[in-house]
Amino acid sequence: MADPIVLIINGPNLNMLGTRQPEVYGSETLADLETATTAHGARLGLAVEVRQSNHEGDLVDWIQGARGRCAGIVINAGAYTHTSVAVLDALLAAEVPAIEVHLSHIHQREEFRHHSYVSKAAKGMICGLGSHGYLLALDALARMIRGS
Ligand code: DQA
Repeated sequence: MADPIVLIINGPNLNMLGTRQPEVYGSETLADLETATTAHGARLGLAVEVRQSNHEGDLVDWIQGARGRCAGIVINAGAYTHTSVAVLDALLAAEVPAIEVHLSHIHQREEFRHHSYVSKAAKGMICGLGSHGYLLALDALARMIRGS
């Protein structure tokens, strides 16, 4: 049987990883993140697909498309985390377990980053651990998927 698919969704400005405020977001690029998460997924028996968009509607479309196709979602919605009811509604409708990830520790940053719409739908949230957070999210999803 084919490995269950886990969709990793990255929101706006995450295409700039590596050059964007490296003191906050680290020096790894999005391509590095894709390599590391795909390899870790393979070790866990998960087929990882990594996507990134600067457009809110793309995130909504990808979450809708995960319903019935993907076994899990890892989502770093970037700034849409703090603003998007549309992303929240898509996650609530998807009926796919989602783990929220942030590279930076959003609760140690500006007040406007403390609130997350994504958290209202996510099974769990990992922040402040840099790109390692994505690997931890895959570990958590692997356990959930195996357990179901
Ligand atoms: C982020 C945190 C958000 O507040 C910010 O808008 C991002 C990245 C993170 O990974 O730390 O774009 O989601």
